[in-house]
Amino acid sequence: MLNKQTLYKKQAGEYAATLIEDNMVVGLGTGSTVRFFIEMLAKRINTEGLNIVGVTTSSKTSALAKSLGIKLSSVDEVPYIDVTIDGADEVDLNFNGIKGGGAALLFEKIVALNAHKNIWIIDESKYHNVIGQFPLPVEVVPYGSHQLLKRFAEADLHPSFRRTAAGSRLTTDVDNYIIDLSLERIDHPKSLAYFLEQTIGVVEHGLFLNIVDEVIIGGEQLKIITK
Ligand code: A5P
Repeated sequence: MLNKQTLYKKQAGEYAATLIEDNMVVGLGTGSTVRFFIEMLAKRINTEGLNIVGVTTSSKTSALAKSLGIKLSSVDEVPYIDVTIDGADEVDLNFNGIKGGGAALLFEKIVALNAHKNIWIIDESKYHNVIGQFPLPVEVVPYGSHQLLKRFAEADLHPSFRRTAAGSRLTTDVDNYIIDLSLERIDHPKSLAYFLEQTIGVVEHGLFLNIVDEVIIGGEQLKIITK
C-alpha cells in the first residue's frame, strides 16, 4: 500500500495528466511525482490516440518515457513547449521553488524557461511559508569545486558534495557535481540566486524564482494554486 505522501504525489501527477490536450508539446520533468504523471499520460496517449511530443529533462525521464512509448524530441528541435509538468522539492507562498533533489535542475530549468506554461506537482508536505528546509542543490563544474566548497563554507552556506549510495561524488547527466546548501530557511532567495549566478564554477542553482504558473498540491483535498 502507498504511504500518504506517495498517494498525494500520485493524485497530483495523475490530475496533471488530465490537463494535456491533443497535439501538445509537453516538457516532462523528473522525479517520483512526475513518474505518476508520465504513466497516466502514456495511458491517455494509448487509449485516446493523442498526438503528444515530450521533451525530457533527464536521462531517467527519457528512459521512462521511451519505455512507455511516448514520442520524444529535444528542446532544440521543437518550435516551443506548450506546457511543462515537473515536480519540486519545496514551494513557498510566493511561487518560489527549490528543485534539483533528483540532480536534474539544469535541464529542468532550460526546459522550464522554454515552456509557455509551467505547472508543478507536489504533495502538501512540500508547501511552506518560506523555502530552505530542503537543502538547495547547486550544480558546479568539477574543476575547482573543492575551492568553491570552501568559499561556500566561509559564506556560511553549509555546503556538502552530494554523494551516491556507494559514497562517491554524484555526477549529473552532464558530468558536473552537486553541492547541497543546508540553509534551513532562505529569507532572500533573489539575492542568494544573484550571488550564486555571479560565482564562477556554478553552472546552475536549484532556486526557481518567478518560473512556475500553477502548483497542483496533492493532499486530503487536491489544491490548485495559480499565480
Ligand atoms: C529533480 O531534479 C527535481 O527537481 C524533482 O523534480 C524534485 O526533486 C521532486 O522530486 P519528487 O517528485 O521525487 O519528490
